[in-house]
Amino acid sequence: MHTPDDRRPWWRTAVVYEVYLRSFADSDGDGTGDVNGLRSRLPYLADLGVDAIWVTPWYPSPMADGGYDVSDHRDIDPRLGTLGEVDALLAEAHGVGLRLVVDLVANHTSAEHPWFRAAVAGGPSAPERTRYFFRDGRDGGQAPPNDWVSAFGGPAWTRVREPDGRMGQWYLHLFAPEQPDLDWAEPAVWEEFDGIVRFWLDRGVDGIRVDAAPAMAKAPGLPDAGHGPGALFESSRWVDNPHWDRDEVHEVFRHWRKIAEGYDGDRLLVSEAVVNGPERLARYVRPDELHTTFNFDYLRAPWDATTIRAAVDGTLAALAPVGAPVTWVLSSHDETRHVTRFGRARSGAAPMGFDPASPVDRALGLRRARAAILLTLALPGGAYLYQGEELGLPEVEDLPEEVLQDPTWERSGRTARGRDGCRVPLPWSGNRPPFGFTTDGVRPWLPQPEEWRELTVAAQRNDPASTLSLYRSALRLRRSLPGLADDEPLTWQDLGDDVLAFDRGPRFRCVVNLSARPVPLAGQGEPALTSEAMAGEVPPDTAVWLVGG
Ligand code: GLC
Repeated sequence: MHTPDDRRPWWRTAVVYEVYLRSFADSDGDGTGDVNGLRSRLPYLADLGVDAIWVTPWYPSPMADGGYDVSDHRDIDPRLGTLGEVDALLAEAHGVGLRLVVDLVANHTSAEHPWFRAAVAGGPSAPERTRYFFRDGRDGGQAPPNDWVSAFGGPAWTRVREPDGRMGQWYLHLFAPEQPDLDWAEPAVWEEFDGIVRFWLDRGVDGIRVDAAPAMAKAPGLPDAGHGPGALFESSRWVDNPHWDRDEVHEVFRHWRKIAEGYDGDRLLVSEAVVNGPERLARYVRPDELHTTFNFDYLRAPWDATTIRAAVDGTLAALAPVGAPVTWVLSSHDETRHVTRFGRARSGAAPMGFDPASPVDRALGLRRARAAILLTLALPGGAYLYQGEELGLPEVEDLPEEVLQDPTWERSGRTARGRDGCRVPLPWSGNRPPFGFTTDGVRPWLPQPEEWRELTVAAQRNDPASTLSLYRSALRLRRSLPGLADDEPLTWQDLGDDVLAFDRGPRFRCVVNLSARPVPLAGQGEPALTSEAMAGEVPPDTAVWLVGG
């Protein structure tokens, strides 16, 4: 829904809605969301007012990691749909003014991918082994080849049984054992992914999200990283790590950028890159690399004005020299939902949803989340919304252990519950599960809490005070208000400690009160939108958009 007279590429200011497909809407009554479910809800997304949707992996997959274990990158998992349905989805999305971004998992394949199966079946001399990282173990083969750790806990190596029945080489998997890492030093891998990138761009998708981008190069010789026993995957702290954020990954992105430039229509390449600070992040969006990258420093910031402002300033400053816009993110399918985070005494996010349980003040969290979306949508650049945040959904923290599916749960020895709690299927309508997500009487793949009856789309749609109404209003105003619509730069104003206040041009101001006292507003313009009902002053944990000045 970009304005036709806008000559800037659409992705510079776009609001992209993340669809976690298997939890969005189910059309065929199997309890898992699918492509046709998404098609049926496109009018909802168009009405919400987002510019684009990013759909998480829909490819054939054994689902060891929710589809991020891909066994065929050029097809759709039959449980989720067909290529024909995806073509229809694309046409229908474009018809209602929504662009579509697909998810490309290129660091690893599924262990069921034909390449990996051939690599295992062919024994140590199989040529397919060079496409992955197969190595002999240490200590006569008994110990993993090095000390690298998996993002989901435990060693990043698993030993295979060779065709002769004996235990043999080890293979590398920075994520689950079902997700063997590809070796991007191998030309066959480049060629294969050239074809995959073109396959989706030829189909007409508007963009590609690059999964786990910093993982896609490993130091020659695979040296030890220096991880001690029990070390955790700490991607946001790593510098000079032999398997994270290495210079060689950028060669891949430069190459893909050239491919994307060959297509019409401002195709977007956006990376998931959790790295050590904004300067490292900026390297992913240099002018000849990817276009945008998620801003995890902003997502991970606790509800604290100093930290949030540092994340905003640090990212804007680091990305300006390379000419890339910032994309602001509060939640995703990998993170504890921010209603819950902001309701905790320690309100920052931990990587990959590994948050230790601590008491949550749900009402406070929701209040802060409502203020946070006005902050997010007032910042210069683009934003990513995660399905359900527009309903104010909290993390589901009490899923029964027997339904947990995130590999984190088993890999951590059942100590970290992982990310299922942010992936519970959406509540659309009705008074009891499955809340319109799937056919009545069918159990969704993860159970929905009974109390979500108050949070359904139907319950919120016509309530002007609902979180859904707040998101719709904010997204509409963002297209029309001076300063926001014309993408003016940000100028901070000092309204006191723990208050984030900034202007975008002479006629727009955003004030977010993170302090414990009200902030007077006299003479600062007329409220165009507020996160809570207010008069004359901004109460604590509240945000306001002001116009006029
Ligand atoms: C990314 C995805 C996450 C997945 C991982 C491995 O971080 O967002 O869901 O588990 O990559 O593919």
